[in-house]
Amino acid sequence: MLVLGIESSCDETAAAIVADGAEILSSVVASQIPTHEKYGGIVPELASREHLRNIEKVVDEACRRAQVRIQDLAGIAVTEGPGLIGSLLVGLVYGKALALSLAKPLVGVNHLEGHIHAVLLENRIARAGGKPVEEAGLPAVALVVSGGHTSLFLVEESCGSFSYKRLGRTRDDAAGEAFDKVARLLGLGYPGGPVIDQLARAGNAAAIDFGHIKMKGNSLDFSFSGLKTAVLYRVRGTPLAAESEERRVWRNACGKPTPDDLRAHCSGETLDLIASFQSAVVRDLVERTLAAADAMRVDSIFVSGGVACNSLLRARFREASRAQGFRVHIPSTVLSTDNAAMIAAAGYYKLQAGQLADATLAARASIPFGV
Ligand code: KG4
Ligand code: ZN
Repeated sequence: MLVLGIESSCDETAAAIVADGAEILSSVVASQIPTHEKYGGIVPELASREHLRNIEKVVDEACRRAQVRIQDLAGIAVTEGPGLIGSLLVGLVYGKALALSLAKPLVGVNHLEGHIHAVLLENRIARAGGKPVEEAGLPAVALVVSGGHTSLFLVEESCGSFSYKRLGRTRDDAAGEAFDKVARLLGLGYPGGPVIDQLARAGNAAAIDFGHIKMKGNSLDFSFSGLKTAVLYRVRGTPLAAESEERRVWRNACGKPTPDDLRAHCSGETLDLIASFQSAVVRDLVERTLAAADAMRVDSIFVSGGVACNSLLRARFREASRAQGFRVHIPSTVLSTDNAAMIAAAGYYKLQAGQLADATLAARASIPFGV
């Protein structure tokens, strides 16, 4: 059963063909980073235009790489939200038109559900390939952590049908957003996560103790805006502010510096600040996820979304799985960041369950999920 997945919720135009929800025949991602990096963040109008420019090419390329004729598809799965409305509309309208013209079934997939299915998909692929990996068992607690989201869900399955209960979510910035904003403040460019991940290795994470992030009410909720502001106070009105501005100007002039170049343009104090900030975010994400797993009495943990690429986060979850007996599943980096294979995989189950979309399927910037 071949499913075409289409994903365009943010700044990645992606299409993929997945067979039986368990084998990736192709996964094509057109990144818009070069378009947005000079603005230090995503410019929604530019993102929509880039999606329009790329969508047809990306879908054609996914079919070509998979050696699949579009007529052979069993169905089309498209991200319906949440995300940037202009971006979502491009993929959704394209998928709808394709389904209509080919008389194929269409399903709408929630982007967060897609991130959760990235874990299940990769686990199925690994086990089918004979890799000695444990099954990503359900029920599980899933942390979805990206530039737009930081949420914890309880994921359960019954007879091929998945259910999601939201346990906590960020009350302000998403973790990836905090990485991106701190990187911008320090003149490190966009996206901030990968750069901070690299530079933090050269800093002392114990240099600044940002303390634990305290939450009133639901202790499984997140909040990163206070931490971001604490970083700002350590920069504003200090020599680090001038250093950051110099770095921003230098970066703009030299294009894309190598990680070594960038490190050479950071003082020890800046590197310590970066390492301490990253360590505080990672500690908070890991602690709340483990607390959620404890509270739900599950030992299976899924982590996905762009921030799941973070090397310290991966290491900390690995340590927790060894020390505390959790089974932690984190997809490879290509399946952690936005992609369409995860949408096709989630869509496969909806197609099988007959949860088809009709002509009323609409793009939605926010959709309640797991509530
Ligand atoms: O899932 P994703 O591709 O798009 C959204 O749905 O938001 O995630 C992108 C986010 C960005 O904020 C980026 O800075 C962050 O993921 N990110 C990272 C790393 N790689 C990407 N954050 C921390 N460490 C990384 N290595
Ligand atoms: Zn995402």
